[in-house]
Amino acid sequence: MRKTDLKRTTTGVVIVITCIVLLLGAFRALVRAPAGLAEKEAGAALFQETGCTQCHYTDSRETRIGPGLEDLFERETLPASGRPVSEENVRRQLESPYENMPSFADELDREQMNLIIDYLKTL
Ligand code: HEC
Repeated sequence: MRKTDLKRTTTGVVIVITCIVLLLGAFRALVRAPAGLAEKEAGAALFQETGCTQCHYTDSRETRIGPGLEDLFERETLPASGRPVSEENVRRQLESPYENMPSFADELDREQMNLIIDYLKTL
């Protein structure tokens, strides 16, 4: 093999490898996007199935039975308790509620609570 041929082959291999790496990156991004979407839908479905919608609007701050939860995670404080908005305090509300809301400690496991909390972040 002549020196120039070797150089060309090496350049070719480098280009091919670069392309593969870039394609894999793009593919991973594509695969991950729908997963995020599926999670959001799972959270929304759980929010509905668990009955949160019976007492909470998700598109307004108006009170239904409990306070409306639109833009909850953009606020400083939670609407009823006045506690700082955080995942931890929302989980606390689900496990041992502030006042009149029923507890969901027996109905929802930690993963389900996380899905609901992630969904609340999108409101
Ligand atoms: C039977 C009615 C009812 C249901 C069902 C219900 N809530 Fe509530 N929720 C309330 C009431 C009333 C409050 C006001 C605070 C309290 O009583 O604890 C409240 C308050 C909240 C708050 C604000 C807490 C704070 O510290 O200010 C969040 C967040 C919340 N609910 C989320 C949920 C989620 C998520 C679900 C479903 C798993 C749910 N709620 C189901 C009635 C309900």
